[in-house]
Amino acid sequence: MKILLLGKNGQVGWELQRSLAPLGPVLALDRHSTDFCGDLNHPERLAQTVRDWRPDVIVNAAAHTAVDKAESEPDLARCLNATAPAALAQSAAAIGAWLVHYSTDYVFSGQGNQAWQEGDATGPLSVYGQTKLEGEQAIVASGCKHLIFRTSWVYAARGGNFAKTMLRLAGERERLTVIDDQHGAPTGADLIADVTAHAIRQAMANPTPALAGIYHLVASGETSWHGYASHVIAQARHLHPEQGLKVTDIAPVPTSAFPTPAKRPFNSRLSTHKLQQAFGLVLPPWQQGVNRMLAEIL
Ligand SMILES: NC(=O)c1ccc[n+]([C@@H]2O[C@H](COP(=O)([O-])OP(=O)(O)OC[C@H]3O[C@@H](n4cnc5c(N)ncnc54)[C@H](OP(=O)(O)O)[C@@H]3O)[C@@H](O)[C@H]2O)c1
Repeated sequence: MKILLLGKNGQVGWELQRSLAPLGPVLALDRHSTDFCGDLNHPERLAQTVRDWRPDVIVNAAAHTAVDKAESEPDLARCLNATAPAALAQSAAAIGAWLVHYSTDYVFSGQGNQAWQEGDATGPLSVYGQTKLEGEQAIVASGCKHLIFRTSWVYAARGGNFAKTMLRLAGERERLTVIDDQHGAPTGADLIADVTAHAIRQAMANPTPALAGIYHLVASGETSWHGYASHVIAQARHLHPEQGLKVTDIAPVPTSAFPTPAKRPFNSRLSTHKLQQAFGLVLPPWQQGVNRMLAEIL
């Protein structure tokens, strides 16, 4: 199985380099790659990469993920999140390859408090959410065999993340204020990459593209950013009591306390029933992955 991986150095892309390796040769590209084009800014050249290398599976982990910046550069966000995936999907369809792509809880409006199902009506609140939705729609419309995984609140041990920011602030300040009216599940890039590899194996083993579709892929359970921060700080104290974090008060505040250019959904809960049933997989509680990440970085 030949695999083309785009966005190899992102949170998910980095973990995919590890998890896809046992499946076969992986051509891993980023926007700076020279032998083959891996730049989402050039959809036609991306399609040429697919025609030249003829992968069995294309995994696209690259995207315009700067949610607030996307509000002021919608054309760039649309090119990276919709036009480029459309080009990948058309070239995948032309050679009979699978396309694996990632999308987001931000395709939903965030109303209510029920976990969103894959078939629920979408209603993005931001340019990022809207362009990611257009990317999904273009892939489905292309007729290529596809797996689209909608995920949320992604973190990785590598690079900056919410937990690291909270730990730094907890060491500097006695009082933290953290949003408590957005609800979702922190999801490790390593979990996303591992589930992707399992799903590709099962999808490819199936003679018909019966498993093709959109799936929600997040860790089990739910929390708020306030609950997430509180867990991270408690776990850090448990692992390293000697570090003496300064914080004594973690105050819950509404989203309105931190105005941002892009609106975020309040309800980012995603039901993973479809994925767990289709692939026979179990998604662990979010705390398990966060504790593992903390054990790695502390
Ligand atoms: N992060 C989240 O909380 C979250 C939540 C829901 C869904 N998702 C989705 O999950 C997927 C993976 O996200 P992630 O968290 O791994 O994001 P990430 O860490 O921001 O990685 C995105 C990657 O895309 C690359 N990229 C940006 N512009 C590019 C271009 N023109 N050509 C090629 N590559 C380009 C970036 O490269 P540079 O480093 O060179 O900029 C980066 O490596 C995305 O589809 C995202 O929409 C993420």
